[in-house]
Amino acid sequence: MATHRIAVIPGDGIGAEVVTAGIEVLGAVQERMPDLALSFESFPWGSDFYRAHGHMMPEDGLRRLDGFDAIYFGAVGDPDLPDHLTLWGLRLAICQGFDQYANVRPARVMAGVPCPLAGVGPGDLDWIVVRENSEGEYAGAGGRVHRGLPEEVAVETSVCTAAGVRRIMRFAFELARSRPRRQLTCVTKSNAQRHGMVLWDEIFAETAREFRDVSTDKMLVDAMTTRMVLKPRSLDVVVASNLHADILSDLAAALSGSLGLAPTANLNPERRFPSMFEPIHGSGFDIAGQGIANPIGALWSAALLLDHLGEKPAAAALLGAIEQVLAAGRVMPPDLGGTATTAEMTAAVINAVRGANV
Ligand code: IPM
Ligand code: MG
Repeated sequence: MATHRIAVIPGDGIGAEVVTAGIEVLGAVQERMPDLALSFESFPWGSDFYRAHGHMMPEDGLRRLDGFDAIYFGAVGDPDLPDHLTLWGLRLAICQGFDQYANVRPARVMAGVPCPLAGVGPGDLDWIVVRENSEGEYAGAGGRVHRGLPEEVAVETSVCTAAGVRRIMRFAFELARSRPRRQLTCVTKSNAQRHGMVLWDEIFAETAREFRDVSTDKMLVDAMTTRMVLKPRSLDVVVASNLHADILSDLAAALSGSLGLAPTANLNPERRFPSMFEPIHGSGFDIAGQGIANPIGALWSAALLLDHLGEKPAAAALLGAIEQVLAAGRVMPPDLGGTATTAEMTAAVINAVRGANV
């Protein structure tokens, strides 16, 4: 029985609180599945580390993470430090350094979770947003000249490479093919952004010819927001550029009930490097330290992590436990209208994993 080695980066704010919950729950999953072996090593990187050492992670941080089977990440962001510094210093450095080009963001209305859209319940909203995670608007290309002068210029360049677009398209088509509806919607802004986004359209059409069993359509990102709100049943898998999918996935999470539920996988599909799993909610410093963060996004992310490691029954057991707790509705977090603390939510999911009534 091989042990999966997991690097844990709790990071900032509520990241540490929900990652602690995730490790406890993974412990319960291991007890239930004697063939599952996980080991955890924690790295204290993030904004406090920056205050102590002048960088978000050590210079050889990536080298130290390489060789792990997966990374379990909390959040990064601090009210007293510039966001671009903390993000580029840790999370984006890992995503780019490990070529985690496929960012996968499921959003689904689960039983027991109120959907903010009238008349929409389980089965009506079941999406996966696939976000290009290595280039596009987040390529980091650009610069500033004439700093501090009235003539200052800032250039922020979106970079779309044919290779980068092809690999995310292929990934999204494969994912769509694996789902019952086999449907893929490509989101761009190719009416206004006439270079990179037109390349997206062309490569989408080219890839579609190889996946004739997947039905396809295209949307402009502005129109997509209204379709998500007004016709949630019409969507299945969605593929979009880094920034567009960043925005759409927050909307998707809110429409599925709460940002606190939503998980992410940052995947290097070829497995040359470890992939990274995290809730999408961020460091939530307004509620940090109060013990009330919703751990479900982190727990669902742990299920994605198990799935990526090939531990399908364990992943299914964990997701099933989450679904059971939410459906029962007795223990609900504040963002879903309840009063349960992080610890109470965690205990409920652990009970469900153990097969007890919740
Ligand atoms: C997300 C977040 C990040 C992103 C931030 C924290 C850099 O919003 O995971 O969606 O934009 O990628
Ligand atoms: Mg985001």
